[in-house]
Amino acid sequence: MSLTNFPEGGVSAAGTPITRVTMPALAEMKRQGKPISALTAYDYSTSRLLDEAGIDLVLVGDSLAMVVLGHENTLAVTVDEMLHHTRAVRRAVRRALVVADMPFGSYHGAVSEGLANAVRFVKEAGAEAVKIEGPRIELVRALTEAEIPVVGHLGLTPQSVHRMGGYRVQARTAAGVEQLKADAHALALAGAGAVVLEGIPREAAAAITAELAIPTIGIGAGPDCDGQILVFHDLLNLTFTPPAKFVRRYGDAAALIRSAVEHYREDVEHHAFPSDQESYHLPEAVRRALDLKQDATQKLHALRKA
Ligand code: KIV
Repeated sequence: MSLTNFPEGGVSAAGTPITRVTMPALAEMKRQGKPISALTAYDYSTSRLLDEAGIDLVLVGDSLAMVVLGHENTLAVTVDEMLHHTRAVRRAVRRALVVADMPFGSYHGAVSEGLANAVRFVKEAGAEAVKIEGPRIELVRALTEAEIPVVGHLGLTPQSVHRMGGYRVQARTAAGVEQLKADAHALALAGAGAVVLEGIPREAAAAITAELAIPTIGIGAGPDCDGQILVFHDLLNLTFTPPAKFVRRYGDAAALIRSAVEHYREDVEHHAFPSDQESYHLPEAVRRALDLKQDATQKLHALRKA
C-alpha cells in the first residue's frame, strides 16, 4: 500500500477533513468517556444522511428483514440480501464505521463456514466489521485471527427468538447477570472490539460496561453503556406496531410521507401537477412549424370537463 492511499475520509461538504471512525477509535472513545452514537441503515440515501449527521457507527442490521422486507422476524434474511444492502451503505458512508450483521444461519454451523461468510462481507461489500449474536467464542477468535473486526451482541438476541419464546428482557436474575458478564468477558478476550447489549436491565449493562475494556453499545439496556444504537425506522416512526419501551421517537416520517403522498395524489387527480413552469417547452419556431396551437392545453381541459 502506498502512503498516498492511507485511509482517510476525504473532505466534508464544508471543506473540513473527515477523520474516519475505526474499530480502535471506538475503544479510544470509551477511554475518553466520549459516547458512541450508532444507528442502523440499509440503503444509500439514509446512510448518507446518517453519516453527514455525524453518527459514529452505521450497522446494516438484519432488522432489515422486518423493517425493510416485511418479514415477521429477522430469521429469513439471507447472506446475499445482507451483502446487497451493505454495498449500498458502503457507497454512502465516508466517516462512520460500517458494520454488517451476519444473518441467521450464516455462522451457526462450522467455524470455517462463519469465517467464509464474514470474509464476503469485508471483501465483497466493504464492511469494516461484522456483528454476530451470542457468545460464539471460537468463531470470534477465528475472525479476529483473520483480521476481521467483530462486534458481539448479547442479551436479547433477536435471532434466538424461538429459543427465548419471544422478545423478552434477558438477565433478570443474579445467575443471568453473572452468565452475561462471563459471556461479555469471553467475547472481549477472544478479540471482539465492541459488544451490543440488547434488552437487559440497566444495572446489568452498567456493571458490564464498567468491567469491560471494550465499548458496550446499548439498545434497551439503559443509559450507562458506552454508546447507544436504535433501529432507524423506530427513531422516525416508520414501523407499524407500537414501539418497545426503550424507543424514543425523534420524528414522524410516517406522517410526513403520508401527507406528502396524499397531497401529490390529489394534485395529480386535479391536474394541478405538474404546472406549466414544471414542464419543458418547444421553441416558438418549432411550435409554429408543427402548427401546434397555443391553446391546446385549454382545449384539453375543456374536453376533460365535458
Ligand atoms: O439488526 C439490528 O438492527 C440490530 C440492533 C442492534 C439494532 O442488531
